[in-house]
Amino acid sequence: MQELLRPGLFRRGPGFYTVNLRPGEKVYGEDLVVEDGVEYRRIDPWRSKLGAFVAQGGRQWPYERVRSVLYLGGGHGTTVSHLSDILPRGTVHVVEKSPRAFGALLALSQRRENVLPVLADVQLPERYRADCGEVDHLYQDVSQRGQVEIFLENLRASLKPHGTGLLMLKTRSVTQTAPPRAVLKDATRHLQQEGLDLLETVDLAPFSRGHFALVLRAPG
Ligand SMILES: C[S@@+](CC[C@H](N)C(=O)[O-])C[C@H]1O[C@@H](n2cnc3c(N)ncnc32)[C@H](O)[C@@H]1O
Repeated sequence: MQELLRPGLFRRGPGFYTVNLRPGEKVYGEDLVVEDGVEYRRIDPWRSKLGAFVAQGGRQWPYERVRSVLYLGGGHGTTVSHLSDILPRGTVHVVEKSPRAFGALLALSQRRENVLPVLADVQLPERYRADCGEVDHLYQDVSQRGQVEIFLENLRASLKPHGTGLLMLKTRSVTQTAPPRAVLKDATRHLQQEGLDLLETVDLAPFSRGHFALVLRAPG
């Protein structure tokens, strides 16, 4: 029997699942399970940092009451597809600059109406802010040196007051010379100086070494 852990997120044994918006279809080779006529897709924590966040005991779940998401660095849509399951009546705007990954997102959006991909650089939020409008939640997973600045720029451009954010911080992209915990400390100090509330920090090892998930709330 599936246990509802958080709105849109289920647990069965050691695995975490979302309800498949497109029954019968896999997105990245994930396991499908049918119970009582409902089909669930397993979130692979080795492939999705959102999956790693829940597998590592993340307690905050910023998707309650969320209708619109701006997702920066969509890749081939692994995690985007689970957010699409979690928010069946919501909208997930996804920004990606790699044409190849964008092609996969476009194909995903043809099967999932709530996924809206944008081919753009996340360092230039003015290029897509009008298309996305103000969103309830900002999710970021880009391996760039200026990850914190990118997050803040997009927050200012598109996040509603008191909106939430999930920043997947890749410390080795910031610097290879400082230890991951020192990079994390710097990043959290910077975010807090900008008025954000840090609600939770989760180390994503062993699934994604050197990565931390930061759950944040924007000022009013
Ligand atoms: C780690 S992958 C994303 C994986 C994805 N979030 C998932 O969980 O399924 C990072 C993605 O960010 C994209 N990216 C990196 N820098 C970017 C930028 N400046 N603008 C837009 N996309 C960027 C890369 O092309 C890559 O697809």
